[in-house]
Amino acid sequence: MQNTANLPDINLDQPIRFDGKVAIVTGASGGLGRQHALALAARGAKVLVNDFSVAGISSAAESVVAEIRAAGGDAMSNNASVTDAIAMSAMVNQVMAQWGRIDILVNNAGILRDKSFSKMSLEEFKLVLDVHLMGSVYCTKAVWDIMKDQRYGRIVFTTSSSGLYGNFGQSNYGAAKLALVGLMQTLALEGAKYGVHVNCLAPSAATQMTQDLMSDADLALLTPKSVTPAVVYLASQDAPTRTILCAGAGNFAVANITLTQGMFTGDVPTAPEQLRDGIDSLRDRSAEMIPSAGIEQSKIEIQKARAHGMPKRAYA
Ligand SMILES: NC(=O)c1ccc[n+]([C@@H]2O[C@H](COP(=O)([O-])OP(=O)(O)OC[C@H]3O[C@@H](n4cnc5c(N)ncnc54)[C@H](O)[C@@H]3O)[C@@H](O)[C@H]2O)c1
Repeated sequence: MQNTANLPDINLDQPIRFDGKVAIVTGASGGLGRQHALALAARGAKVLVNDFSVAGISSAAESVVAEIRAAGGDAMSNNASVTDAIAMSAMVNQVMAQWGRIDILVNNAGILRDKSFSKMSLEEFKLVLDVHLMGSVYCTKAVWDIMKDQRYGRIVFTTSSSGLYGNFGQSNYGAAKLALVGLMQTLALEGAKYGVHVNCLAPSAATQMTQDLMSDADLALLTPKSVTPAVVYLASQDAPTRTILCAGAGNFAVANITLTQGMFTGDVPTAPEQLRDGIDSLRDRSAEMIPSAGIEQSKIEIQKARAHGMPKRAYA
């Protein structure tokens, strides 16, 4: 059943276009990244298609570049691993030398090493963090000052429902993916006054990454193409900032990290018991809010303590 009740009126006189804009998409030789690269190029962006390729094996990124060029677009490839900070800096230099600016970075490259936490080696844990978290950090660090100087940038981090909500067997992946949300939250604050907007995408798609995790019938609905509109929007002039956009099978939603009103116990010996017996009211979401920055939590706590007559140095 199609729910069209909450669809907005759209202004097709102003389609989202990227003419004159330059994008980098990592891990873009297949799956979601390829669709993101094709869609950005189809709307006018010049696109650097990155994907890791082992020396001596022909580059899959090059085939996406060929697709873009065949459709009349402009693209070039880069075969370095996002885990190589020096190579990511060189990739950004490659783009600047060729096109002179960078407007959009889609941090998409990723791997899985799923196992229950007991069976997972620390190397498997760290490898996944290196690719998803540090790979995104290296690419973002390499473009950050360029975007700040341009007074314009759009950065997308690819998070996951696994990080937002957990998934059995994905402690490494979930930790890496939620770390990207933390990175996004702060970079969105730091980038705001420079016109650099930073957001997260939480996709669901049938790709080589998910082919063993779901039934064929379910996977048939989860086309990568149905996720990509979220990236087109987050890469656009009108992109929001500090948003976690979830996308799959043509559904789009926003995930939030919220704070409930909670309760005030004061600095009393029975506070643990009050938490135990008041857990329902702690969890009550009726008046929850989204803090504008981490410091807001402390401000609210101080304000409430004062409202309850707590002395200024009660915890000294
Ligand atoms: N498919 C899903 O349902 C889903 C759900 C949540 C998040 N994601 C995320 O979306 C992104 C794309 O995933 P996908 O499903 O298209 O998987 P995919 O495996 O098809 O694509 C990932 C791409 O990243 C590349 N890559 C891996 N390591 C790299 C490295 N070190 N340097 C450069 N490229 C590298 C791979 O070669 C591959 O082409 C990933 O970050 C993934 O974690 C996917």
